[in-house]
Amino acid sequence: MSIYYFINTAISNDLLKEVLKTGLICVGSKGCGKTNAVKVITRELLHRGFADVKVFDLALNWLFDFEQLTFQLVEDDTIIVNAKNCIYDFTLTYDHNQINYTMQRLMRRDYHDKAQMKLVCDGQIYTRLVYIVEEAQNVIGSSALRGKENHFWLKAISTSRNIGLSYIFIGQRLSDISTKAVERCNGYLLGKMTGDNDLRKVKALGGKELRRQVKQLEVGSFIYYNGDKTEQIDFPLFESYGRPKPYLETQPTVEMGSGLFARIKEWIK
Ligand SMILES: Nc1ncnc2c1ncn2[C@@H]1O[C@H](COP(=O)(O)OP(=O)(O)O)[C@@H](O)[C@H]1O
Ligand SMILES: [Mg+2]
Repeated sequence: MSIYYFINTAISNDLLKEVLKTGLICVGSKGCGKTNAVKVITRELLHRGFADVKVFDLALNWLFDFEQLTFQLVEDDTIIVNAKNCIYDFTLTYDHNQINYTMQRLMRRDYHDKAQMKLVCDGQIYTRLVYIVEEAQNVIGSSALRGKENHFWLKAISTSRNIGLSYIFIGQRLSDISTKAVERCNGYLLGKMTGDNDLRKVKALGGKELRRQVKQLEVGSFIYYNGDKTEQIDFPLFESYGRPKPYLETQPTVEMGSGLFARIKEWIK
């Protein structure tokens, strides 16, 4: 059965284009609607053909209601496949280094592929890919980024957009996220926040007025801030039409170095 989606007018093309250009850090207290908001954005990215997505989830947030994607449940010893439009759920992976290592491996491959694509395509970018990272403090948190092994994330944040990769990081507290990452990012989706520490960070980011706006938000409402513009977005409740399917071997994989030209032809057509 196919599903006919209507364009969700709460999400503008401009917002989606900015997400592709600058990336997005989505923060707010637990339960303020972050996962819901990012699901709404993700559906529009896919539906309007703006980008492919890969979701890194740690706690079964996406697995029950995102019918547009496939999923792989990653356990400590799972051999993961680099699939198109996929949820990688790490609920059953207990080793945090392993999670981070897996994410970075996937990203590096895509990075390499996208860079090659741009080279072959005369500097043009024809396809885009957005990573969605739940519990982002684990990968771009202050302590996480101190480790040398995580520096690829910083490289990814600062340069990926030039080759068609972008990211949406979801976290509970702005103060848990490394300032190095915050400085490199230009797009924020700020939800309801209560902690003084976080509100102080918001003020440092965009001034008193931004702090005032964030303070009065309700569940489901966010302030989008990109350095000069602020805009309130009231997200609708994400509506699920079914479950994602488990990833099958027959689906298109993106194996690095194999048949690059064939894939380029397929992607561009
Ligand atoms: N836009 C919205 N409208 C109405 N209810 C919402 C909305 N966003 C979230 N909620 C409610 O809040 C709950 C928590 O949302 P969720 O996105 O999981 O929060 P978070 O990821 O910030 O912890 C949801 O289960 C839903 O009931
Ligand atoms: Mg959540």
